[in-house]
Amino acid sequence: MGLFKNYVNQTRKPEGFLGKMMVDGMNGGHAKLADWGMSHLEGIAPAAIVELGCGGGRNAAALLERYSKAKLTALDYSETSVKKTKATNKKEISEGRCTVQRENVASLPFDGAAFDLATAFETVYFWPGLETCFAEVCRVLKPGGTFLICNESDGTDETSLKFEKIIDGMKCYTAEQLTSALMVAGFSEVKTDHHPSKPWITVLATKGKI
Ligand SMILES: C[S@@+](CC[C@H](N)C(=O)[O-])C[C@H]1O[C@@H](n2cnc3c(N)ncnc32)[C@H](O)[C@@H]1O
Repeated sequence: MGLFKNYVNQTRKPEGFLGKMMVDGMNGGHAKLADWGMSHLEGIAPAAIVELGCGGGRNAAALLERYSKAKLTALDYSETSVKKTKATNKKEISEGRCTVQRENVASLPFDGAAFDLATAFETVYFWPGLETCFAEVCRVLKPGGTFLICNESDGTDETSLKFEKIIDGMKCYTAEQLTSALMVAGFSEVKTDHHPSKPWITVLATKGKI
């Protein structure tokens, strides 16, 4: 595998030296996108948050700042990502507000109805079996809970489709494809937004109260 291909493949599961470089870069590189995504979180005051595919942990830190009374669990299946998220959120971990775990979103080690908010920034491209993973997210959310997905690809932009060809197992989804998978997985309401000038999308799904 060439160096470039090896490097961009680190987005899927950062490992080793290149993975560490990638995770360091993602914390800064995804900040604007993630802040735009989080700006869609209106009218909620989550007490328990799960941040899925947390990468370098910058978005976990931003959520903990945004919701100062909340506790957050960040998870990722990459050891490199878990290590970096722990370093990024050292203070919040020592205060008991943040926990970081190495887990796969396909099988979440939590009781049902454990969280008010679940977030996934730039990660669903790599999830194995979208509907199964979304059903897991739905299971661990409380009734009325919110699931935020934020992607820099709307599933049709040329740049991301090029990456899809070189990153193993990557799949860029349209907002419609995500909506349909979320509804099949058990969510009751889905709202989507497209950035006015970039191919960024935000998808907000709600778990029904019944
Ligand atoms: C492109 S990075 C995005 C990281 C971070 N969310 C951000 O916006 O900067 C994707 C992350 O999702 C993680 N990931 C991918 N599939 C996963 C899965 N099935 N379970 C847990 N983590 C996963 C990867 O290890 C990686 O850290």
